[in-house]
Amino acid sequence: MKLADARERAGELRRLIAEHNHRYYVLNQPVISDFEFDILLSELETIEKIFPELITPDSPTMRVGSDLTEEFRQAQHRWPMLSLGNTYSESDVTDFSERVRKGLGYEPEYVCELKYDGVSISLTYEAGRLISAVTRGDGTRGDDVTMNVRTIRSIPLRITSPGALSSFTIRGEIYIPRSEFEAMNAERLSRGEAPFANPRNAAAGTIKLLDPKIVASRPLECFLYNLLGEHLPADNHFDNLMAARSWGFRTSEIIERCTGISGVLAFLSRWENERKQLTYDTDGVVIKVNSLEAQRMLGNTAKSPRWAIAYKYASEQAGTELISVDFQVGRTGNVTPVANLMPVLLAGTTVKRASLHNSDQIDILGLCYGDRVIIEKGGEIIPKIVEVDLSLRKDSAARVVFPNECPECGTALVRNEGEANHYCPNYLHCPPQITGRIVHFVSRKALDIEGLGEETIELLWSNSLIHNVADLYYLRHEQLAALDRLGNKSASNILAGLNKSLTAPYHRKLFALGIRHVGETVAKTLAAGFPNIDALISADAEVIESLPDIGPRISTSVKEYFADPDNIEIISRLKAAGMTFEGPAREMTAKGPLSGKTIVVSGSFQNFTREELKSLIEAAGGKIAGSVSGSTSFIVEGSEMGPAKRAKAAELGIKLVNEAEFLKMIKEWPLDTTM
Ligand code: IVH
Repeated sequence: MKLADARERAGELRRLIAEHNHRYYVLNQPVISDFEFDILLSELETIEKIFPELITPDSPTMRVGSDLTEEFRQAQHRWPMLSLGNTYSESDVTDFSERVRKGLGYEPEYVCELKYDGVSISLTYEAGRLISAVTRGDGTRGDDVTMNVRTIRSIPLRITSPGALSSFTIRGEIYIPRSEFEAMNAERLSRGEAPFANPRNAAAGTIKLLDPKIVASRPLECFLYNLLGEHLPADNHFDNLMAARSWGFRTSEIIERCTGISGVLAFLSRWENERKQLTYDTDGVVIKVNSLEAQRMLGNTAKSPRWAIAYKYASEQAGTELISVDFQVGRTGNVTPVANLMPVLLAGTTVKRASLHNSDQIDILGLCYGDRVIIEKGGEIIPKIVEVDLSLRKDSAARVVFPNECPECGTALVRNEGEANHYCPNYLHCPPQITGRIVHFVSRKALDIEGLGEETIELLWSNSLIHNVADLYYLRHEQLAALDRLGNKSASNILAGLNKSLTAPYHRKLFALGIRHVGETVAKTLAAGFPNIDALISADAEVIESLPDIGPRISTSVKEYFADPDNIEIISRLKAAGMTFEGPAREMTAKGPLSGKTIVVSGSFQNFTREELKSLIEAAGGKIAGSVSGSTSFIVEGSEMGPAKRAKAAELGIKLVNEAEFLKMIKEWPLDTTM
């Protein structure tokens, strides 16, 4: 290779690496696998070794990828947050141990841990309290995400165990367990939102959210793997981690001290398969020299320590050909592209289809029909296309273009600002949306109506017996029994199932309506916040938004739904058929920021009626009392508060909280529960 060619290729590689780093660390939307990324990086390393004059201080071989964003305050790391050299073969691990042995003059003890696939975090404690949580950033400075990290239950906010260090830094990996991730994605899909591609992306995206309340609702976990500080309890990594565990930090049980490299290699092969049984994603093993003194002797390169290395397991990938793309319209109108592939064997199953998520994903990949694509099985069940082999693309290949019109009804598609998905707004007449809504209504998680599944709904629809969910309750036995695939028995079953559903829990009925962005959890919140559907229908957007975890996106969607006379008509026909839409007589047992508080409401309020305010308090876990007494926790004070109540409050020293302060209290849940 000539110097000029090397310079050009190095420039190209740096551009590519910078772009993929940005996609991985900032956008949380990587399009190539870690393995592919490491190949680019090692090509650049090789060029820089042959032509050292091409090395620049800002080369990605000299610096770690950065996750810094503009939204967060930045904080300096007291100890740089380095990355690890990646290897994919046992011989690289042996080479590493040789380098270590030469550097130290003896073979040290190693510690093997799994490499958790999440986002790294640096926690600083002072006087036993968590004072900051900072992402890796560019290794020197990171984003200060303390407010978000405080919501993770397994991270102690205070260290109380006797003998614990009071000031130190501890680092670890924040992740989302696989099953929680799947439940979270199912919930997103049920709300008509785009799913996350894998648990790592979900964790990385969550930790950078601007609203800690949403972060609190996400199932984040953390494993701690590195203790740093002035007077550490032990002179080696393993014992320090054990000490941290005894102070209340969550560390993995899977950690092993190995004498010599043979123990390390045995750990690698044992966990290659066993790691798949774990509840969280891991992508390799981290091998660390145990003694801190030996670590100091070996030191660091610009980017990573010489005393540790990451061995990565090959990810499960396969190459195949893209045949066509279906644009599927879901019940909320969301249009999802799904790739049809030449069948290929991947991790023991034959794969014919892969998710493409949304139009951005198609553009990022620059996908063309007939492309040779690499598919990968990540945390999710449906594999995804991670890469296109451009060298095999034919000149005549046609780009995959996301349609402008709904493939089912021809209506122009809409994409709301800030949302990744296109959807068909023809809510009333787009066939898959109508049948999809009815199928959703009868589905297991909604009203769970026996005898009615997708096929029967299609049958009823194609025979013009139903046009919406209310029609189900006006079906007659003879209409059902006369249908081809049904008979007397099925007809009776269906009618019995429909009858039973009339008394299903209120929140399930709200969920069953299929309001955009109202998944199971939101439906429960709405049902707890409004005693019946009429109160919800007439509520103002601000009142809806004052419920925990409800923002303008959801309140707008709810308001839009009830503003449609067809929906109101459906609800009144459901009611006429005997369906009730109300919660049970309220028990004050909801869990929330006001759990355990007894609250008196007095006077009148700007944003709420008194009844609405009481509903809100109950939804947030509080108990309403009619009069002020020694057990009153506080009084929500409106204008024209009664003088008797005021005097009693003063006498008993009970705090008055005005409307704005009260709203703040329930909005800041779960951070401010100190009242
Ligand atoms: S130790 C000097 N231990 O891998 C680096 N890192 O590629 C010390 N990671 O930034 C890191 N599991 O986010 C260490 N058991 C483990 C790990 C681990 C995952 C991540 C971490 C680090 C990245 C390096």
